[in-house]
Amino acid sequence: MIKKILIVFIVAFVIIQFFRPKKNIAAGEQPNHISKLYNVPDSVKTIFTKACNDCHSNNTNYPWYNNIQPVAWWLNKHVIDGKRHFNVDEFSTYSIAKQYKKMKECIDELKEGEMPLTSYTLIHRDAILNNAEKQTLINWCTSIRDSLKAKYPADSLVMPKRK
Ligand code: HEC
Repeated sequence: MIKKILIVFIVAFVIIQFFRPKKNIAAGEQPNHISKLYNVPDSVKTIFTKACNDCHSNNTNYPWYNNIQPVAWWLNKHVIDGKRHFNVDEFSTYSIAKQYKKMKECIDELKEGEMPLTSYTLIHRDAILNNAEKQTLINWCTSIRDSLKAKYPADSLVMPKRK
């Protein structure tokens, strides 16, 4: 009995290896990157690259274990979900109100220590942000919010209510 279960398990494991999610890899410079609208200093770029971009950009730097199922499905879910919420490579397509809101969400996530996800920092130890790095990002997000506030009337910063 145990042998049979084991065989079924191994066969299933082999079969699922053939079903791979499409990788999140976009070629070339991204035309809608946040830097097209706002200055992104190197200090901020470095933090985004090591701690956020794998799930919040059009390019994921995949680890070797992404070649194993069901791991790849699980990672892929994070990337799709992460990008849907916030994508630095699509940022310039966001409405003013959405940009304003996303920067607020970034600040909140950093303050609460919710991002990067714990499941990510367990392996990507260098993505654990120290207080200075968090503050650098928070200050930068705040400066974008301030510049939006200075430039646009207050009602254009409010997201329209969902109908
Ligand atoms: C391992 C993947 C991963 C990494 C790395 C990651 N995120 Fe996320 N992020 C997600 C996922 C998945 C969601 C959506 C679900 C959730 O909110 O937990 C999300 C949601 C968000 C949101 C939207 C929150 C909201 O209120 O809707 C923001 C903003 C965000 N992340 C910012 C960041 C920043 C900034 C970093 C880097 C410091 C980062 N994330 C790193 C996966 C990731």
